[in-house]
Amino acid sequence: MATIIGGIGSTHVPAIGKAIAEKKQNDPYWKPFFKGFDYVHYWLARTRPDVAVVFYNDHGLNFFLDKLPTFAIGAADEYRSEDEGWGIPVSRPIPGDAALSWHLINALVADEFDVTTCQDMLIDHAVTIPMALMWPGPVWPIKIVPVEINTVQHPLPTLQRSLRLGRSIGRAIESYEKDLRVVVIGTGGLSHQLDGTRAGFINKEFDLLCLDKIVGDPETLTRYSIHDWVQESGSQGVEFLNWMAMRGTLTGRVTELSRNYHIPISNTAAATVVYDNQKETARKAA
Ligand code: DHB
Ligand code: FE
Repeated sequence: MATIIGGIGSTHVPAIGKAIAEKKQNDPYWKPFFKGFDYVHYWLARTRPDVAVVFYNDHGLNFFLDKLPTFAIGAADEYRSEDEGWGIPVSRPIPGDAALSWHLINALVADEFDVTTCQDMLIDHAVTIPMALMWPGPVWPIKIVPVEINTVQHPLPTLQRSLRLGRSIGRAIESYEKDLRVVVIGTGGLSHQLDGTRAGFINKEFDLLCLDKIVGDPETLTRYSIHDWVQESGSQGVEFLNWMAMRGTLTGRVTELSRNYHIPISNTAAATVVYDNQKETARKAA
């Protein structure tokens, strides 16, 4: 059976792609951010996942405001990216695991999550930047299943709904008959606002509360409405919905293995975390 080995949370700011292209990882501005990935690289080398389920929000590359699903899931053998206009190199394509996608889609619809299924889907910086951060080498040794959550055009799903989507996908992964090792990734955030009179808004106190609570008590965070969240975290801080879904998939004993929090990267409070997901049986055997 497939197992969920753990979760990773990662910011997806496009400027990171430019820093990677220009090899600026050790520049004073970038170093404190890139250092946060040392543990991620160590952990991925040790745990060697086969597939990554990636919760992210599309920013207008595959979906636009005329048609924007609340939840969409890729069901392709390969995902391409395109130039989004950020001035960064277009990412290499990423292989998909279409068989796992269809298993998840069947389980989600049976569980009353009526997701949009995409057999052709462009992925944007919210997938490709975290991939480049997690696997900095010339090859990405992993297949993906991308899961899009609308964080762009209101009404957005609630934090509770996102957590439940994650739980449903977690149960579905664990009922998959192949012996796959699955890592679940949530991208975006933490606090940031790119537009309007509060452009540049960051809330460190609220971000640290989120990072503390999401590990052992994510339910507490579901008490915030989306409008509360915009107030506390900025209009793009709602990308935390992707983190809530990631957390929802982790059904074992969840512990924080690593955390890096750094302000600012571009307009964003950047956070990188790794969560362990220890199952009861694995704990007994240990
Ligand atoms: C920035 C942050 C984002 O989440 C994004 O999607 C684009 C840009 C930024 O801080 O520049
Ligand atoms: Fe974003």
